Amino acid sequence: MKVLVLAAMLACSAMLRAEEAVQKFIRIQTDDTELILQVAENGRLYQSWFGERLLHESDLRNLPWAVRAGSDGSVSRRGWEVYSSSGNEDYFEPAIAVTHNDGNPSTWLYYVSSHSEPVKGGTHTEITLRDDQYPVEVTLHYVAYAEENVFKTWSEIRHHERKPVTLTRYASTMLYFSRPEYWLTEFSGDWAREVQMSSQQLRPGKKILDTKLGSRAAMHMHPFFELGLGAPVREDEGEVLMGTIGWTGNFSMTFEVDNAGNLRVIPAINPYASAYSLDPDRVFTTPEFVFTLSPDGTGPGSRNLQAWARKYQLMDGKGSRMTLLNNWENTGFDFDQEKLTGLMHEAAALGVDMFLLDDGWFGNKYPRSNDRAGLGDWEVTRTKLPGGIKALSDAASDAGVKFGIWIEPEMVNPKSELFEKHPEWVIRYPNRETYYYRNQLVLDLCNPAVQDYVFGVVDRILSENPGVAYFKWDCNSPVTNIYSPYLKDRQGQLYIDHVRGVYNVLARLREKWPDVPMMMCSGGGARCDYEALKYFTEFWCSDNTDPFERIYIQWGFSHFFPAKAMCAHVTGWNRSTSVKFRTDVASMCKLGFDLGLDELEPEELEYCRAAVANWKRFSPAIMDGEQYRLVSPYECNHAAVNYVSADRSQAILFAYDLHPRYGEKLFPVRMQGLDPDRMYRVEEINLMPGTRSRLASDGQAYSGDYLMKVGLDVFGTLSGVSHVLAVTAL
Ligand code: GLA
Repeated sequence: MKVLVLAAMLACSAMLRAEEAVQKFIRIQTDDTELILQVAENGRLYQSWFGERLLHESDLRNLPWAVRAGSDGSVSRRGWEVYSSSGNEDYFEPAIAVTHNDGNPSTWLYYVSSHSEPVKGGTHTEITLRDDQYPVEVTLHYVAYAEENVFKTWSEIRHHERKPVTLTRYASTMLYFSRPEYWLTEFSGDWAREVQMSSQQLRPGKKILDTKLGSRAAMHMHPFFELGLGAPVREDEGEVLMGTIGWTGNFSMTFEVDNAGNLRVIPAINPYASAYSLDPDRVFTTPEFVFTLSPDGTGPGSRNLQAWARKYQLMDGKGSRMTLLNNWENTGFDFDQEKLTGLMHEAAALGVDMFLLDDGWFGNKYPRSNDRAGLGDWEVTRTKLPGGIKALSDAASDAGVKFGIWIEPEMVNPKSELFEKHPEWVIRYPNRETYYYRNQLVLDLCNPAVQDYVFGVVDRILSENPGVAYFKWDCNSPVTNIYSPYLKDRQGQLYIDHVRGVYNVLARLREKWPDVPMMMCSGGGARCDYEALKYFTEFWCSDNTDPFERIYIQWGFSHFFPAKAMCAHVTGWNRSTSVKFRTDVASMCKLGFDLGLDELEPEELEYCRAAVANWKRFSPAIMDGEQYRLVSPYECNHAAVNYVSADRSQAILFAYDLHPRYGEKLFPVRMQGLDPDRMYRVEEINLMPGTRSRLASDGQAYSGDYLMKVGLDVFGTLSGVSHVLAVTAL
């Protein structure tokens, strides 16, 4: 009864306010683009416009809202409802679906109120919607970042029904488009094959990009996409939507072309096996969806996202990053104190800032001497490293470098003391044979006791070892054996609460340890989203460090992330390529090494030292400047990228010959982003000792105008050749 009265009251007040609000427009604006929402006569909220910012307020009343012609010319009652719900008059994919206490699966949302307030870099708009029959409320959030033309949006769902309701759809947002053609570029892959770009035209029906891996979530599909509006996606022209969802778990991004040829885009947590039981008065917060609409291709869109990330989202986005020497590719699990001390001196000899100790340093009853044992027991293996972490960080300090360490705290090997002590902390079926991925299982982060444990692992390492200056935080297994002992009969919450448990741990750690840089890693680049990057300073793009492959991988990730967030190491993958080629490729991101100096000839070591120094010299451009993708490896047998510092006094051009054809016609590379009226000196750097540049441009001065319009001859016909050009204003 009480619920009915409340529902009736809610209905009246919603209707009343809706009447007052008829024709109300909500403008969510950046400097160049805007999303216009409109409360229609029926009291519901519709998308009226998403595109270039409109100049005249008086034009708004001409925008259509609900009445749209069907393909047969008939007029339909449905419009572009902003958070379209199940059971309404729209027959396509909804944003939200709720089963209420009485079993009714419909929800109709009416506008209640909205307000906006300034936040750092933009404006935050909050809009409240409410059902007229059930005490269910949705709050839509939009932050519009003016200068970068980036939007961030998420939603909150809450209710006051007597018992839990079941959510089976809970989108972050919905966006609609009406164009003659839609072209989707997706970034899919696997271990060592991250972010392979492919495109297709969207036809009527649905295309869904999703993942069901739980943790290590983006191994097969990365949480971002590009959508060419009217034409295929291009780098320098055409309207393109670039979107990414901040969720380190199962996501789904649905693209549905309806009967009228309109497209809706629905980014969300993947509802797969996740009918979520939401208790009364609790808030279900969806992940943030970050997007930008570029009128001129992906180049400007990427630069906007990269600048936005450095300013507002990425952990320590404005800070510097440490170059490093890692030992994984070099030693694997086979090391001791003496060997590591030697590598710390090698790090110093290379001129990098830090030595990073990888997997294999922990476990006593079950030492981690391979990947079959030890995960979960985060005590140094005493027989291997008798002096503990302290001796290691002291040795690093003696060598003159910082010390970083690898952890994988969300996981456990069944061969571990942790598993013996707490088998109930592990995600696995009570009644089926257990199956394994990399011989390990995932800890049940839905359980607050497990969250405490994981927090404690990292907290203790840091508290006991002030010398630890960096973490590489890995996550090598998807969620397997999908059953949480903690959740009991609410298994529909597993995938979602597990990710929230991970965030809870990270948030607690960041509160206590705000400054420790951390690399996010997931068996390569299977974690790479903007929620996790609130806590991590950078991520590992791929275990594949073959420079040919890396050019594609880095190219792909660069569409959404700044070079500062992307770790790239010089390793022994594809030793048939020169150390120079490998290093030049890694120099386009956050530079590191993962090889032994005994692999290098004296002149190669000298070359690497100089390359590290050059990278540091040009880090205002590479780390904090603007990036221009000039020649695509997807379209050509070559690749080129340049970076320009914010004041345009410094630029660096990376050019690669991949697999040129015999007799191929070569074209000059036209740089971008320079000051056309300034003169720049071009100098080839990263040359092997004892060699001289063969480029005619080396040592010459050119105007920015010339470099951008005419360009430089940097390509050749031999495979695996690279050139790095320093371009410095005179
Ligand atoms: C993952 C990472 C590697 C390395 C290993 C260690 O595969 O991607 O870089 O850290 O784990 O086991």
